[in-house]
Amino acid sequence: MLAVLERPSDELYCQPHPELSPLAWHVGHAIQVEHYWLCEQVLGQTADARAHAIYFPEYTTKAARAEQLPALDALRESLHARAGACAAAWHQVPPRHGAISSGYLHAFISQHYAQHLETVAMADHALRIEESKAVRSLSLADAVSHTATQWVGIPDTELRVGALENCCTPAPYDNELGAHMASIPAQRIARSPITNAQWLGFVAAGGYGQSALWTTAGWEWRGRNKVNAPWGWRLEGDDVHVCSAWAGAAQLNAPVVGISKHEADAYACWAGAELPHEHAWMAAQQAGVLADSGQVWEWCGNPLDTWPGFVAFPYTRYTLPWCDGQHWVLKGGSAATRAAIRRPSFRNFYTAGQRHIFAGLRLCLPG
Ligand code: AVJ
Ligand code: FE
Repeated sequence: MLAVLERPSDELYCQPHPELSPLAWHVGHAIQVEHYWLCEQVLGQTADARAHAIYFPEYTTKAARAEQLPALDALRESLHARAGACAAAWHQVPPRHGAISSGYLHAFISQHYAQHLETVAMADHALRIEESKAVRSLSLADAVSHTATQWVGIPDTELRVGALENCCTPAPYDNELGAHMASIPAQRIARSPITNAQWLGFVAAGGYGQSALWTTAGWEWRGRNKVNAPWGWRLEGDDVHVCSAWAGAAQLNAPVVGISKHEADAYACWAGAELPHEHAWMAAQQAGVLADSGQVWEWCGNPLDTWPGFVAFPYTRYTLPWCDGQHWVLKGGSAATRAAIRRPSFRNFYTAGQRHIFAGLRLCLPG
C-alpha cells in the first residue's frame, strides 16, 4: 500500500471517479484503520484526532477529501511513520484482547488492505478510461447470441450456508457467519459469465434503447447517466473501443466487465433469464460447475442481508448500514482481487448503479 505514495502528486490527489476517493486518501484510510484497531483499541495508545477526521469516511464526502489531505511531503512522512508504528505494534499484541483475538485482528486488517488495494486498481482504471488509454477495438459484427450460453442443472437442494467462526483462514467477515440451511430451487446456471462477444449482441440488438427490458429504476439510471454501453466502452459506428483494466479483458471471449446491476438485469431480461441468488451461486460453486469465476465480480439477484445469529463484528458499520435493500451481493472476485478476500464465501456488495467495480454477470434459468 505504501508503494502507492510514490505516484506523482496529481494522481495521488485527484478524485478519479465520483464514487472514488483520491488514491492518497485510500492509503491514509487503510493505515488509519490499522492504527485505530491495533494501536488505539487493542494497545490503548492515544488517538490522533486530526487523522480520524481526515481518514475515517464518516466525517467527509469523497469530493472534499483531496483538499483535506496533508501536502505531499507531510503526507508521505506521516503515513510512513504511522505504518512503521503499526508494524512495531503487532509485536506487542497479546493473544487475546477482549473480543478481538490477535488472529482475527490480523485477518481483519489484511482483508481491509486487500479491499482498498482493489479500490486503488479501480481508480487506476478510471484514470485510464478518462485518458482513453489501452484501447482495443472490437466490432459489432463479432456479436454472439446469449443462446451461446452453456447451462448446467442444479437440483432442488438444501444448502448449508454461512460459516462457523474460526472455520477458515483468514477468518471471514461478520456477514459470512451464521450457519443455516437455505432451500435452493432447481434451476440451470450458466457455466461461464457473459462474455464481451455476448454483450456486443445486446448492444447490436438495441438493448440499451428498449425500456421494456429495464426496471423503472434502471431505465431512469440509464437516461440520467446517458449510458449506451459498459463503462470503458466507446461506440463509433460498428466499432467498439474498449479500454481494458488488464491484459485479455477486452478479448471477445473474456467476461464482460464494467456492468452495473441495472444493465445486468436488462441483459438477463433480454435473454429470458435471471441473475442467480447468491445461494444458488454457492451451490453451483460447491458442485464445481462454475467456470471462469474470479475474473469479474458477478452480480447476484439478492440484496445484502444478515443471516440467523448475526453479530456485528468488529464494528457495526462494516455490514449493517448496507443491509438496506439497496446494496446487492456480488460473488467471485475480479482479476484485481487479492488473495486475502478471494474465497467463495466472501460477499461483496454495491448499489445497482455502480459500475466502476470490475463487475459482470452470470445468468441462471429458473425452473
Ligand atoms: C464491501 C467493498 C463495498 O470498499 O466500500 C472497505 C469494503 N468497508 N472499508 C467498500 C470496505 C470498509 C466496502 N465494500
Ligand atoms: Fe475501509
